[in-house]
Amino acid sequence: MVELRDVHMQFEDKKVLDGVSLKVEPQERLVVMGQTGSGKSTILRLILGTLRPASGSIFFKQFEITRLQRRKLQQVRRSMGMVYQYSALLSSRNVRDNVALPLEELTDKSREEIDQIVDEKLDLVGMKHAKELLPSELSGGMRKRVSLARALVLEPELILFDEPSAGLDPVIGSVIDELIISLTEKSKVTSITVTHEMDSAFRIATRMAMLYQGKIIEEAEPEQFKQSENPVVAQFLSGSTEGPILEGSRDAITTK
Ligand SMILES: Nc1ncnc2c1ncn2[C@@H]1O[C@H](COP(=O)(O)OP(=O)(O)O)[C@@H](O)[C@H]1O
Ligand SMILES: [Mg+2]
Repeated sequence: MVELRDVHMQFEDKKVLDGVSLKVEPQERLVVMGQTGSGKSTILRLILGTLRPASGSIFFKQFEITRLQRRKLQQVRRSMGMVYQYSALLSSRNVRDNVALPLEELTDKSREEIDQIVDEKLDLVGMKHAKELLPSELSGGMRKRVSLARALVLEPELILFDEPSAGLDPVIGSVIDELIISLTEKSKVTSITVTHEMDSAFRIATRMAMLYQGKIIEEAEPEQFKQSENPVVAQFLSGSTEGPILEGSRDAITTK
């Protein structure tokens, strides 16, 4: 479904990804973990094609994202849904109009068809009662649900979740994780979630990968991942202050 091959990325002189390779099979829920600033959101933006890598290639189904012309890229991107870290809803539009937006902009469906799809997706995330509310009238968890409904309206084959439980209290965070699992299973959609939250990662993942200093240093199913002998993974899992991860380490990839 998705493949990254030896992807390098830097912003000005700051190296962020230093040869990332990853493969995601259909209907997997891959969770990529890493410290804040390690390049997790960058990976999602590269897959969406809103960023281009310095080198390496990225595939989505049969398309090489990194080679597509703008028009074709926009078309291919309709098969991907993105749930942003801070939900990214338009503050002037109510819930219904936020969810309808991709359908209005990218399809020629009638008002009736759009209403029906919006209702169906809002129902899936348990937000049908809140159609008329503005984003400012919603809690963080509700905003996340709406953002999830919006990501589903074009029936994507792949959904990308950027820190889905960030900023939510632990209980609401777990509820959102459960929703991610049930929705992706029901719609047979493949997902990539990036997070620095361990509990959330272990709930969601069918496979896990750890990003550290620009590279994937471990990749395994959750049970094996837990047993990892890599000291960085072990420290990340335990949240210990003892180990190779230093406070400043996210700011630079050590040059050998
Ligand atoms: N557009 C940008 N311009 C310059 N630096 C950026 C840009 N986007 C991200 N970065 C830097 O790249 C690093 C990785 O960012 P990001 O992918 O957002 O990390 P994460 O999502 O893991 O917290 C950070 O140090 C960030 O400051
Ligand atoms: Mg991020």
